[in-house]
Amino acid sequence: MNDEIRPLIAGNWKMNGLSADLSQIRSLALALRNDPAHRCDVLICPPATLLAQTTRICLSGAIISGGQDCHTGQHGAHTGDISAAMLVDAGASYVIVGHSERRSDHGETDGLVNAKARAAMEAGAAPIICVGETHAERLGALAMTVVEKQLNGSVPGPEAFERRVVAKNLVIAYEPVWAIGTGLVPGLEDIAVMHSAIRDWLFERFGDEGAAVRILYGGSMKPANAKKILSVPHVNGGLVGGASLKAEDFLAIIRAA
Ligand code: 13P
Repeated sequence: MNDEIRPLIAGNWKMNGLSADLSQIRSLALALRNDPAHRCDVLICPPATLLAQTTRICLSGAIISGGQDCHTGQHGAHTGDISAAMLVDAGASYVIVGHSERRSDHGETDGLVNAKARAAMEAGAAPIICVGETHAERLGALAMTVVEKQLNGSVPGPEAFERRVVAKNLVIAYEPVWAIGTGLVPGLEDIAVMHSAIRDWLFERFGDEGAAVRILYGGSMKPANAKKILSVPHVNGGLVGGASLKAEDFLAIIRAA
């Protein structure tokens, strides 16, 4: 693993997981408790229905838990929504915001993602802000432009919070939409170019504090490719979907870090 940043390996369970699947988290916690040598932070973001139980199990394995989305407010008349304060109350220390599935399924805009990221920070959780281009955009050589636009719009500026606070509590996840759940992964050189551009953007936005922000790669990360991807400069961890659902696979990715 590169840089001096402690890597973060985060599992995004998406809309998967019933109570019975908590056994996977129990297995993971047990394995990590018996093998505390892993040199990364491990995060699980289960569906909200399993968050409180996940948090309790995670405590025993030095794993942290998080949410997959939050509302822009902390409470109020918003039937069916969940606030960052509620996620934190159930044990979350991170909240994923702006995942491409939320952007496409729910029409979430950069402005909305920005407000959700602020709400997460206000509630005391670190937002994991997702960005990434579609296949058509990659083919049209627009990947960099699209990601930069998403960063400009989705990441709260340092004027909202003290620079140090934002940089310490912010994670960016680069997830090319076409790599999510498809088994396709960009070339390592393409990942390197994008992560380096995101790092430059962070320096521009946050000054020296931008060096501390973790930039995760997400999209078909598996035990077989994790080591290579995680050794790319400025890849400070992974946001893992499918391969985080089985303790064995997720553990192999954690060990690769
Ligand atoms: P997969 O690992 O299943 O491709 O999903 C990636 C992702 O969207 C994580 O947020």
